[in-house]
Amino acid sequence: MAKISKEKWKVWGNVFDDFTFRTLFKLASQGHFEELKSPVSIGKESNVFSAKKGNEKIIIKIYRLETCDFNRMYDYIKYDPRYINLKSQKRKIVFAWTQREYRNLMKAREAGLNVPRPIAFLNNVLCLEFVGNKETAPKLKDKIPKNKKIFFEKIIQGLQKLYKAGLVHADLSHFNILNLKEEPVFIDFSQCTLIRNPRSEEFLIRDIKNICNFFRKIGFKSDEEKTLKIVTK
Ligand SMILES: Nc1ncnc2c1ncn2[C@@H]1O[C@H](COP(=O)(O)OP(=O)(O)OP(=O)(O)O)[C@@H](O)[C@H]1O
Ligand SMILES: [Mg+2]
Repeated sequence: MAKISKEKWKVWGNVFDDFTFRTLFKLASQGHFEELKSPVSIGKESNVFSAKKGNEKIIIKIYRLETCDFNRMYDYIKYDPRYINLKSQKRKIVFAWTQREYRNLMKAREAGLNVPRPIAFLNNVLCLEFVGNKETAPKLKDKIPKNKKIFFEKIIQGLQKLYKAGLVHADLSHFNILNLKEEPVFIDFSQCTLIRNPRSEEFLIRDIKNICNFFRKIGFKSDEEKTLKIVTK
């Protein structure tokens, strides 16, 4: 078990609610990381931090318990066959949301998709492999690929793999793809759902539209319908 200094942790007590603080401390005591380092992103539903594990870094994604958009989360998850019995209970939804991202990442990884390795999850906290070197890898929107066609094709191959594994990302855009040395790394899988979900086709069409629109803007044209056929072939 990693050695955790309580003193070092005290400072975070003012940042998180008690429940989240205890969850973080438990994950750290289990040896997944030693201490939080710095905030990476303050998002709509989650805060992302980097954390130290030995000489390495990992990513800690913390879903907020109070201020996130539960109704929107519930709207998405209630159609997922795996969560059909879920009642609209706030915390349970956030926990299920966290667990779902972990499970989706596992499945995506097994399907051969380039995603951060999910390390562990507990309640509203998810530990992930750190994508990047010293800094986190830039989002696609902030780092235009040198070869747009090849990068686009790699994304489509990724979507194909995901589809074959029975999944649709459902929140794909140039915000949720990192450009790691000209390789796409797909992130943010909490909305990712099964093809069995009655809304999966609508989500897939939207994902493809987002990607095609972005690439059109940066000067690479593609056909959305043709791309959809390739992904679902
Ligand atoms: N494994 C990772 N490695 C490196 N950076 C990451 C990783 N996971 C997330 N990030 C960074 O944190 C940001 C937010 O992560 P993510 O998209 O998963 O959360 P989010 O809740 O969707 O945030 P937002 O509300 O801003 O969309 C990403 O855009 C990325 O910059
Ligand atoms: Mg995101």
